[in-house]
Amino acid sequence: MAAYHLGSMNRFASAAGVLIDRIRINTITRQEREGRVAWIKRRRPAARLILGFANGFFHLATAPLRALADPLLWQRWEVESFNILHAPEFHAFSPEPASAEADELPGVNLTIHLDGGTITPLMAAAAGRELHRAHQCHCPQFNGLWSHGDPHLGNFIYDDRTNRARLIDFEVMHLQALPAKERHSDDLLIFLQDMAGRIRSEAWMPCAEAFLKAYANPELTGLLLEKLKAPRWGFARLWWIVRLSYISGREWRVRFEKLRCAIQSGSCSPDNPSAAHDPSGFLIITQSSTG
Ligand SMILES: Nc1ncnc2c1ncn2[C@@H]1O[C@H](COP(=O)(O)OP(=O)(O)O)[C@@H](O)[C@H]1O
Ligand SMILES: [Mg+2]
Repeated sequence: MAAYHLGSMNRFASAAGVLIDRIRINTITRQEREGRVAWIKRRRPAARLILGFANGFFHLATAPLRALADPLLWQRWEVESFNILHAPEFHAFSPEPASAEADELPGVNLTIHLDGGTITPLMAAAAGRELHRAHQCHCPQFNGLWSHGDPHLGNFIYDDRTNRARLIDFEVMHLQALPAKERHSDDLLIFLQDMAGRIRSEAWMPCAEAFLKAYANPELTGLLLEKLKAPRWGFARLWWIVRLSYISGREWRVRFEKLRCAIQSGSCSPDNPSAAHDPSGFLIITQSSTG
């Protein structure tokens, strides 16, 4: 059994004033049992306090989401979201209080490719298709369409054998009062901010365009035109900078301005809009891999 202590919540900590270098909210364990491989996430006792603190920050930053500090609420959201998106092929359940267990999804998380400099437009397109597919799922908690809240690249598991990405990590939730379009365009922004912060400059536009083309919803992509402008000041601006992994202001301004121009020129729209709503997304794969 290999145990990993993966603290993605260090993002929250750095946002909250660089007081704590790395906060570990969960323990994550990979387990093999009778041929089945699963990942088991357990909440640490201090998580509630830390997430309460993070939520105070999100409130101040007017971020449209909250971390699920209550272990029961988190557990339910983690398991239900996984099953909404991946059952019947893969399953999640709650083996004990304050924990969630999920089947291993094939592939590696896209942060590995992003940080290793090996991310490609094909991978970004796979993430775009997965987000599009996930955004069509119904979700009782929203009494409407599902959204993720934190779809940075580390929360996509990409399988290069099938060119398929799948979403994981359901730790935060968008504010329930927000309409689906707001939540969905926020998910697009979060992915783009994470990618913009750490990608090689020559790979930025091909990957960002491939992601939005594969997401294939020109109306939502249009909403990004406003969202790609940074808040001017305060906690909202600090959160923006954290999301961009602290790259220089000049660099992200250039990257986002190029993307806004591309959106306006139509080069982020799907080549064939009717293909966009093919639930398998494979029409789009074919186009982007041959074109
Ligand atoms: N179901 C899964 N299938 C494959 N890998 C997983 C799965 N769950 C977690 N992982 C691995 O563990 C890492 C951390 O899991 P995640 O749910 O994102 O927790 P955290 O809240 O720490 O970010 C992922 O990036 C991935 O590498
Ligand atoms: Mg994660």
